[in-house]
Amino acid sequence: MLYETIIGPALFKMSEDPEVPHKLSIRALQTASRIDPLLQLMEQRFGVNDTSLRRTVWDINFPNPLGLAAGFDKDGRAILGLQALGFGYLEIGTVVPLLQPGREGQRIWRYPKVNALGNAMGFPSEGKDKVYRTVAPLRAAGRIEIPVGMNIGPNKETVDSGNLERVIADYLACLETLAELADYIVVNVSSPNTPGLRELQNPVTLGKIIRVLREALDRLIRILGRSIPLVVKFSPDEEEKDLERMVRACEAAGVDGFCATNTTLSRDGVPAIAAERPGGISGEPLFERALRVVSHICSLTDLPVIGVGGISSTQRARRMMTDEYQAPRARLIQGLTGFAYVGPSYAKNINKGLIASVA
Ligand code: FNR
Repeated sequence: MLYETIIGPALFKMSEDPEVPHKLSIRALQTASRIDPLLQLMEQRFGVNDTSLRRTVWDINFPNPLGLAAGFDKDGRAILGLQALGFGYLEIGTVVPLLQPGREGQRIWRYPKVNALGNAMGFPSEGKDKVYRTVAPLRAAGRIEIPVGMNIGPNKETVDSGNLERVIADYLACLETLAELADYIVVNVSSPNTPGLRELQNPVTLGKIIRVLREALDRLIRILGRSIPLVVKFSPDEEEKDLERMVRACEAAGVDGFCATNTTLSRDGVPAIAAERPGGISGEPLFERALRVVSHICSLTDLPVIGVGGISSTQRARRMMTDEYQAPRARLIQGLTGFAYVGPSYAKNINKGLIASVA
């Protein structure tokens, strides 16, 4: 297959610095997005269309439950290419108000023996207006066929200022620009790579942020004439009692759902060298931790939860969605690190397995 030969495993697995293949794959998928016959070939090769995979959550129809997590396509540059790889939905971002380069130096590390990544990206972003200009024409042309969520955050400088009003204004600016293009919005308060960001998970602070965003979003929803769910993304490193207070604060402020989890600061299950590197760990070592958080949130609320963290196989996808007694857990799931290791067949492999498991 052309696609696999050109941007297959080599792209996804080469180079010392994992950011190099990441950037190349974004560029390749961006190029593919402009070549309709190639997109069609990719869709034939990687798409899985089966009614048993369909989900309706928040009144939005998802062709399958597996989305691409935030952090892969931060600026929405490869939407059509990624859509052709069989994901049920995509989450773009984290998008911040103003262009920022993110952390300097190497900022992604690979731990292939345990199928994990470490990252300390620090929200590199082209900024909300550029993302708007990239995605709006695709929406206008009706080219986006799967739900696309917009994951939003504040600029590093704003968080550094320690001024909560300014931080809220950053989230608000992103929401106001991007809601029009979004099927859902994710408020990211849980990346470990912007110092101070996770402190926003304090229930009182969180309540304040969500209330302002809820109000603004309700105004936009009235203008746009369609509902846009507001979701909050949590870290996997919170104590259960804190998690409960966070969930309650978000519910009281009017969120529509939760996304769990972001990367972990724990170094359990990864090679010792990881302790000397900054940032959060994703991939298989995160799975059980993320699953615990998702299960706990599901026990606290009936609002839909997006489960993410270490989903590298159908079995893990299934466990994230249903417990051992077949009771439902996460309504939707996402992956990123699994995609980075497996390559373009990632969504197809998991979705095919999910079909087999319900057959
Ligand atoms: C991420 N993640 C992430 N999350 C987020 O909310 N905003 C972001 O900008 C990023 N950026 C990012 C970059 C890289 C390189 C990685 C590996 C991860 C976290 C991601 O969305 C997800 O929550 C975790 O990676 C756990 O899922 P996986 O990777 O184990 O499937």
